[in-house]
Amino acid sequence: MIRAYTITSGKGGTGKTTVTANLGTALAQYGRETCIIDTDMGMANLGLVMGLAETPVTLHEVLAGKARVQDATYEGPYGLKIVPSGLSLKGFRDADPKRLKDVMHDLTDRCEFLLLDTPAGIGSDVVMPLTVADEVILVVNPEISSLVDALKIKILTEMIGGTVGGVILNRATLEGNDTSWRKIEKTLGVPIIDTIPEDAHVRRAAAARTPVSVKFPGSESSKAFRRIAATMADIPAREDPETVQEGFIERFARALFRRE
Ligand SMILES: Nc1ncnc2c1ncn2[C@@H]1O[C@H](COP(=O)(O)OP(=O)(O)OP(=O)(O)O)[C@@H](O)[C@H]1O
Ligand SMILES: [Mg+2]
Repeated sequence: MIRAYTITSGKGGTGKTTVTANLGTALAQYGRETCIIDTDMGMANLGLVMGLAETPVTLHEVLAGKARVQDATYEGPYGLKIVPSGLSLKGFRDADPKRLKDVMHDLTDRCEFLLLDTPAGIGSDVVMPLTVADEVILVVNPEISSLVDALKIKILTEMIGGTVGGVILNRATLEGNDTSWRKIEKTLGVPIIDTIPEDAHVRRAAAARTPVSVKFPGSESSKAFRRIAATMADIPAREDPETVQEGFIERFARALFRRE
């Protein structure tokens, strides 16, 4: 069974792509078969953040009905599967977001976890990822504009019959305390799943086109990503990133078990 999470925020620049890239990496590190998809088809950058060099086939061609999702899937760290979007405007124009459901159907047997990175805003390209997700995760920064935009997305999600699973509070600063976090929960009416601190390692890793959880596994943000991934995968978080990857035999056994 595939479990699909749409990572969204309303407001731009809150950390959707960073969260998608690093949660995906951390889930793969825990041995979970995970696929991340860039549904930000106009301003695609998940492939860039993940350091993919050449991506001749992308989600653009898949959603234009010209390629299969397998052909647009590239391998990332720990066997993470990445479906990037293309950079061309023509590709963006030809891609039909309605085909996203078929893409997910094609991935059902290949992944346990599917994370969809989304564009900012509430345009039609966001609605489809909100519709197809089992759970929508809101990436919120501790500031009022981010909170207001996240609330709009929450209302939109519920209007179209989707479910908001919770909030990831990204770029949390030391001033944040239990009271302000409770205010965020109360305003949005959904629980805060966890917080990711403001961490300069995130930018440094992005500059090196590598997820922070790979480039700086000991950083505070990486620890937070592993903690959230462990919760999602329902396993205890482990501190040592070198010891978390399952061996081949364990993965093989689990894959067999899953198909039964
Ligand atoms: N926890 C963090 N600490 C420090 N910098 C961060 C953190 N999270 C994200 N950033 C930085 O913030 C910027 C925006 O992040 P990101 O691209 O992930 O946001 P986004 O929501 O995907 O943006 P967009 O709406 O444009 O798609 C990036 O430069 C990223 O490196
Ligand atoms: Mg983004």
